[in-house]
Amino acid sequence: TNKLAIAIDGPAAAGKSTVAKWVAKDLEYVYIDTGAMYRSLTYACLQNQIELTNEQEVLSLLKSINITLTEDQNVYIDQQNVTEAIRTSQVTQSVSAVASIPEVRQEMVKQQKILAAKRGVVMDGRDIGTHVIPDAEVKIFLNASVVERAKRRHQENMDKGFSSDLEQIKKDIERRDQIDSEREVSPLRKADDAIEIDTTSKTIQDVANEILSIVQKYK
Ligand code: C5P
Repeated sequence: TNKLAIAIDGPAAAGKSTVAKWVAKDLEYVYIDTGAMYRSLTYACLQNQIELTNEQEVLSLLKSINITLTEDQNVYIDQQNVTEAIRTSQVTQSVSAVASIPEVRQEMVKQQKILAAKRGVVMDGRDIGTHVIPDAEVKIFLNASVVERAKRRHQENMDKGFSSDLEQIKKDIERRDQIDSEREVSPLRKADDAIEIDTTSKTIQDVANEILSIVQKYK
């Protein structure tokens, strides 16, 4: 059967990665988490004490490192495994600033286009349907109310035994969505030809099945 490219975009904590992994597993496709790439660069900036507003330094750091996503969802900066390190709240709170730098996006999108060229991919992010794979066969825009998204992330944290503050999470999500939506280059936006799914009152499984049935129609 034909291998497709599936683009999944949407705001922070809408369940994109969980759903994308599920869909990829079912179809035996590769899942590519583009947020992990922006997070890795942000982590490297923090480690190297680079001012996030210093666009030239951020860019030259990006050019000096190799960010690798493995098929089993590990993330490396050169030889260092940063899979866990890129999920801290410090990285989460800083990533949108780094991701708003035009030259950073240009470089990331270039790498992501290469990863998607082979098809048989589920890629999630903010600009996949609009800029990275504008010709993706299936485009999904996942959404949910900010309260619902904050509650889910809060529950996830508690399940992992992390300390968590629901109000703070809600504020962080709103702030991140605002920066991601208002930046000049490839902002968070639903592609005109994307199918929007509101996940507020749906389970991950429901949403994954909905996407899989959309995929079936293209096969
Ligand atoms: O998906 P995740 O929440 O891990 O993404 C982290 C951040 O990376 C987003 O808030 C956004 O600033 C940036 N991002 C982006 N474009 C993408 C994926 C992520 O700008 N395609």
